[in-house]
Amino acid sequence: MIFGLFSNMAVRSQRLAVALLFIFSGVLSFPLGQETKPTPNMLNVHLVPHTHDDVGWLKTVDQYFYGDRNDIQHAGVQYILDSVVDQLLKNPDRRFIYVETAFFYRWWKQQSSSMQQTVKKLVNEGRLEFVNGGWCMSDEATTHYSAVIDQMTMGLRFLNETFGPCGRPRVAWHIDPFGHAREHASMFAQMGYDGFFFGRLDYQDRARRRRDKEQELLWRASDSLTPPMADLFTGILPNGYNPPEGFCWDQSCDDPPIRDDPDLEDYNVDDVVRRFLAIANSQAIVYKTDHIIMTMGSDFQYENANLWYKNLDKLIHYVNALQANGSKVNVLYSTPSCYLQELHRANLTWALKMDDFFPYADDAHDFWTGYFTSRPALKRYERISNSNLQVTCNQLEVLSGPASRKGPFGEGDKKAMAVAQHHDAVSGTEKQHVANDYARRLAHGWQRCQVLVSNSLAALSGSSAERMYCDNLNISVCPLTESTLSVSVFQVVPVSAATREVRRNRGFAVNELVFQVQAPPLGFTTYSVSLLQDGPPPASTQHRTPTAIQNKNLCVHLPQFLRVTFDPDTGLLSSLSNLETKQTIKLTQNFYWLVYNASDGNNLQSDQPSGAYIFRPNSSTPFLISKTAKTESIQTSGVQEVRQWFAPWVSQVVRLYTDSKALELEWTVGPVPIDDDLGKEVITRLDTSIKTSQYFYTDSNGREMLQRKTDFRPTWNLRQSEPIAGNYYPINSRAFIKDDVDQLTVVTDRSQGGGSIHNGSLEIMLHRRLLYDDVRGVGEPLNETSNIFPKGLVVRGRLLLSLDRPPSAADAHRPLAQEVVLQPLLTFTDGDLHPNTQLEFSGLQAALPPAVHLLTLTQWDKDSVLLRLEHQFQSWESKLNSQPVTVNLQKLFSTLEVLGVSELNLSANQWKDEMTRFHWTPMTGTGHLNLFIRFYYISS
Ligand SMILES: *[C@@H]1O[C@H](CO)[C@@H](O)[C@H](O)[C@H]1NC(C)=O
Ligand SMILES: *[C@@H]1O[C@H](CO)[C@@H](O)[C@H](O)[C@H]1NC(C)=O
Ligand SMILES: *[C@@H]1O[C@H](CO)[C@@H](O)[C@H](O)[C@H]1NC(C)=O
Ligand SMILES: *[C@@H]1O[C@H](CO)[C@@H](O)[C@H](O)[C@H]1NC(C)=O
Ligand SMILES: *[C@@H]1O[C@H](CO)[C@@H](O)[C@H](O)[C@H]1NC(C)=O
Ligand SMILES: [Zn+2]
Repeated sequence: MIFGLFSNMAVRSQRLAVALLFIFSGVLSFPLGQETKPTPNMLNVHLVPHTHDDVGWLKTVDQYFYGDRNDIQHAGVQYILDSVVDQLLKNPDRRFIYVETAFFYRWWKQQSSSMQQTVKKLVNEGRLEFVNGGWCMSDEATTHYSAVIDQMTMGLRFLNETFGPCGRPRVAWHIDPFGHAREHASMFAQMGYDGFFFGRLDYQDRARRRRDKEQELLWRASDSLTPPMADLFTGILPNGYNPPEGFCWDQSCDDPPIRDDPDLEDYNVDDVVRRFLAIANSQAIVYKTDHIIMTMGSDFQYENANLWYKNLDKLIHYVNALQANGSKVNVLYSTPSCYLQELHRANLTWALKMDDFFPYADDAHDFWTGYFTSRPALKRYERISNSNLQVTCNQLEVLSGPASRKGPFGEGDKKAMAVAQHHDAVSGTEKQHVANDYARRLAHGWQRCQVLVSNSLAALSGSSAERMYCDNLNISVCPLTESTLSVSVFQVVPVSAATREVRRNRGFAVNELVFQVQAPPLGFTTYSVSLLQDGPPPASTQHRTPTAIQNKNLCVHLPQFLRVTFDPDTGLLSSLSNLETKQTIKLTQNFYWLVYNASDGNNLQSDQPSGAYIFRPNSSTPFLISKTAKTESIQTSGVQEVRQWFAPWVSQVVRLYTDSKALELEWTVGPVPIDDDLGKEVITRLDTSIKTSQYFYTDSNGREMLQRKTDFRPTWNLRQSEPIAGNYYPINSRAFIKDDVDQLTVVTDRSQGGGSIHNGSLEIMLHRRLLYDDVRGVGEPLNETSNIFPKGLVVRGRLLLSLDRPPSAADAHRPLAQEVVLQPLLTFTDGDLHPNTQLEFSGLQAALPPAVHLLTLTQWDKDSVLLRLEHQFQSWESKLNSQPVTVNLQKLFSTLEVLGVSELNLSANQWKDEMTRFHWTPMTGTGHLNLFIRFYYISS
């Protein structure tokens, strides 16, 4: 998506402009097919014709493809591709890049074979070039690396299989995402890209980089991979991704065309050329080489490509004609990879960047940190869908072989997940009807996946009993167990009032069954549950706040890990102890809300409200929802719960399972009240005795951890103008605060925004309901309701807290975070199992070493599978687990015989031994550390 925010830039360019004025008279006609190419000793201006096609935003992905609902936004991708191909054929100099394979794939399927041949020729000749090439241009703040790798793999695979090596993109292109994650750069490097371009970064950062000519840099995107494995050349585009001011020749623009008939009155060639040279020269001043790039296109442009190309042909002709009279400016049709090649040829050294590009602000009070949390239910649904896809569909299909594949599936689940990674999908920045469309696609994909799971489990267990899936266990709704189980099973706890409230009329269970299960790695296990006539009664609810709960206090010989205490007066948490390591911190936790209040007198500096993208509270003191919580508690041998009730719309269960080393905080928030005409952004804040001196840590796309410092940026002197919003960072799976002796880690169940505004404190934004649009294009307030929640969406989620000694904390929180990301799937069957049913299965011969995580196991083609194993520890974070490990693939699987193995790049579109990347020299920096991640492709 774009919004007209780059006017600042244009103004600045003009101030810097060193105009070269040439007065000349025009030439009316000129031959097409003038060859354009870079010329030494000139300023080479690379014009890159492009279109930015959101895979859903104001319209759904299909509406965008067909050009449906042009009343919402005029955009039709099929026409863009039709028109561009037509125009490329008219002049061999013309170039075009295409980015989003989700759209290209739809279009390609509909072309005749002669058209497909024509397009192949254009690709082979470099006139149509694929850039980025993933299924979509993923969001960087709210995605998890496993889903990003999958969506890239899917798009790049299609391009390789359709076009071969000429279809393999050399450049990653994230022109629109709202801030940039270090892990994305690391992934792109490991996918073999030579460079990366983007459009959006903090306005202060850009100003500093323009001054110091550091808009092109070398990003060292991992502190664990040996350079240059995760080094990625990164270029910041001059105008976001728009054309320079005055040079937009799309049908959606109003800039004057080039009128080059000197006999007509409004001849404007001199003026156009003069303006263009001024812009080119001012741009050259803030970049390092004698090559500069201009993005000639924008959102959904080129539907009538003739308009663009006709004027670009003329622009190139008239500007270059001046070379005969001494002009040193050479304009050419180009692509990002041609431009990158010239930068590489320049053989310069480049500034090194080690942190990331979050948060993104386009002005002093305009921080794009709200979308880290926007649409929390969609964010969770996307995460569960990823888990279902990886853990069940992909892995089970491989393990059970052809037996699983009888059924009506295609790639629906994979495509739905891929589309959901788009920067207006899981980010929560799309219109409501589009969010509904993403959710519907995920649900549809999951239905097909269920068939595969049932087939696989039937094959592996030898039981064909019908399997049922309970997608609403988060609110204790499961039709099968509700109707067949009654109350008196061992370890039964009553369903809470909060849960009854959230589930509305979707279920009627009065009790929950709680027991501990253990499943083997890459496998399943079966538990049967039956009704005892004279079992013990369900645990009863105590209406008094216990002073403390700790693991399994009934049975002293079992390990006891955690103890939490409560303040008897307030009902709030008051401390957390790890009994193994004998450490205790003070810990209070409460819920607050923040918002932009339009009628607050304190808005003199800016009237920017919070919206889908922007977080803009206009008070730095959050409103406390309640000083105290009403509580009740439940204790069984399996679980202890303290249920806290803060307000009719905020409640929480503090839960400790018998053998759990993490404390669970299950929050329920909504419907967020708006009867006071104020939207609300609900946070929970953990205040501790940990001495953090402004530092805290958040993950990057769920993988490496980054250090953050409040009111600070590593690469420029920050002028902080938003004390809260300007200190929020994306949290994809975990965050922590620590001092020398204590580390408190919070594992989240979805992407959320958070920060450490005060020392010792960590806050996480859980839910947002807003009454204004934030004028970044979506055109709707983020005011979610649904059929079940007409008064406002209710959202439930979990935070897991663990307290450890800092040197070994990662040993606990890495596996914990992975367990939440890739959670086991529960299926249910009714009745007795056949006696020959295999009750337990593991696809592995032995568990993997703790440092190794099986990221991907999926069928690739008929007789090969794609396997990704990753070392999941950063080089510095664990004495025990950060060491390199060796895995014997021959002895890995129980049902697969490994006949051969070939190693690929991360996105599986290139053999590792064929992967060569440009080498770039950093201005400073040292190489260090272990070899960390290896990706394998094996045949079975
Ligand atoms: C170059 O300069 C000459 C002499 O001033 C002029 O006649 C000619 O038109 C100029 N050419 C262009 C392309 O401006
Ligand atoms: C690049 O620069 C380095 C150091 O200045 C020099 O040694 C090297 O030969 C140059 N390479 C090329 C291809 O010009
Ligand atoms: C928010 O949603 C509620 C419930 O549908 C509706 O009554 C209200 O008008 C909406 N407010 C805004 C500003 O969209
Ligand atoms: C419960 O999980 C389902 C997905 O399985 C999700 O759609 C729903 O929003 C969740 N409910 C709440 C209250 O968070
Ligand atoms: C790329 O596609 C070609 C043609 O289908 C195939 O032979 C080749 O194995 C693919 N490359 C990779 C790395 O999968
Ligand atoms: Zn976009």
